[in-house]
Amino acid sequence: ADSGALVIAVDGPVAAGKGTLARSLAKAFGLRYLDTGSLYRAVGARVLAAGGDPADPEAALAAAGGLTEADQRRPELRDEAVGIAASQVAAQPAVRAALLDYQRGFGRTPPGAVLDGRDIGTVIFPDAPVKLFVTASVEARARRRHAELQGRGADVDLAAVLADLEARDARDSGRQAAPLTAAADARLLDTTDLSIEAALETAIRMVVDATGRK
Ligand code: DC
Repeated sequence: ADSGALVIAVDGPVAAGKGTLARSLAKAFGLRYLDTGSLYRAVGARVLAAGGDPADPEAALAAAGGLTEADQRRPELRDEAVGIAASQVAAQPAVRAALLDYQRGFGRTPPGAVLDGRDIGTVIFPDAPVKLFVTASVEARARRRHAELQGRGADVDLAAVLADLEARDARDSGRQAAPLTAAADARLLDTTDLSIEAALETAIRMVVDATGRK
């Protein structure tokens, strides 16, 4: 890592709370924040908007090549269809390679950044001084996601949310290209029995412990 740019890698499965944690850590340590899942979502959304097939390598790579910051703010990024397209483009090595430099450049720009994703500590920043791997039981993640969806007025049952999470875990962990796995030197943060506040306190302690900051 460059001097003057601290990189904090936050990886973990879907709905473990890593987005909230990563955003809060960035604020606490005065760093920038990048949700790398939104990059894959933006690529998927671009392919769909162009009427292409996200599983088609040519269409996916073309979309990844022309990605702009505006694409990262597209309103449909959280849609279910875009999530599926994102997982299809994320399975392609050429798409992952096309997004590599952007992620590294983002992290290396002073004062540095918290990046959350699946392969930050293993592939994007293997030398990051701080790596957190945030997990929670699949039941806890399903309960949280279910409550969040209900809060948004969606009428879904818990069993369906659980089945969806298990399918996503299998896709993220089972793929050939940069599968979801904790780096050997990552600190494990299991949020199953932690409130958001307690999880953040633990994460801050881990960062302080690793860097001596604050
Ligand atoms: O975290 P998310 O649901 O927004 O991620 C969308 C998709 O992108 C999901 O299939 C996992 C994938 N992804 C990835 O492969 N690598 C990352 N660093 C971040 C997300």
